[in-house]
Amino acid sequence: QLRIICTFLCPFLAYGARIQYERIGSDVTMQCGSLDNDASVTWKVNGTDVKARRREEGPRLILMEVNMSSNGLYSCFQNPDGQRRDQINLRVGIPPKEPQVTCRSNTYPKGFYCSWHLQHPTYIPTDFEVDVQHNQRPLEVMRDEVHKNRCHVKFPELFSSFPYRVNVTAVNSLGRASSAISFEESSIGTVLDHWIDNENTFPLVLVYIL
Ligand SMILES: *[C@@H]1O[C@H](CO)[C@@H](O)[C@H](O)[C@H]1NC(C)=O
Ligand SMILES: *[C@@H]1O[C@H](CO)[C@@H](O)[C@H](O)[C@H]1NC(C)=O
Ligand SMILES: *[C@@H]1O[C@H](CO)[C@@H](O)[C@H](O)[C@H]1NC(C)=O
Repeated sequence: QLRIICTFLCPFLAYGARIQYERIGSDVTMQCGSLDNDASVTWKVNGTDVKARRREEGPRLILMEVNMSSNGLYSCFQNPDGQRRDQINLRVGIPPKEPQVTCRSNTYPKGFYCSWHLQHPTYIPTDFEVDVQHNQRPLEVMRDEVHKNRCHVKFPELFSSFPYRVNVTAVNSLGRASSAISFEESSIGTVLDHWIDNENTFPLVLVYIL
């Protein structure tokens, strides 16, 4: 029974496959397990024949100029017994470019928040590292639970003239890129700023004036 189920499902399951991330437009080499150079294998993608432009060199499949339609689950089977030797989940993407970062305060004088985004999609999982410094000292950064690309920082002191420096680094398997911005407390915590930036702060602004 298990065998029947597997006949239908196994070609579509990425379970146990390793993920290989590659750049759009590059030539990609996939190696079938640790087979010797003289091994002969057959490659399948999503359980069907590979039709993309390619070269095959022993246990290696070389795809030329991959694009998004090259994504898929690649399996290799050793000839002549047809035993599966490896499974690779190919994910094509691009390295991140510098993220765009903005910081605001809607809880002045408690703290401020920063948010960031990428102008171009990377198509593969991309994480962000955030570093906030004030007067050469790193500050505690709390990541927002709801907004993935947002963090909150408490002012360590008020009326400080030292600038705050926020550095956001976007990281994925293909590369990394950082953006840093600097601002002073006075430029982020003014009533006028609230007024213009965020209509949700309207009641807060009133309290602040009173
Ligand atoms: C992706 O590459 C294949 C060849 O490997 C080609 O047939 C196809 O047109 C390409 N698709 C795009 C959107 O460029
Ligand atoms: C493999 O299947 C995935 C998911 O259905 C699809 O997005 C991808 O284009 C397929 N890859 C190839 C090379 O057919
Ligand atoms: C931002 O952080 C990254 C990673 O920690 C670092 O490589 C980069 O030099 C920093 N950029 C600035 C302007 O400080």
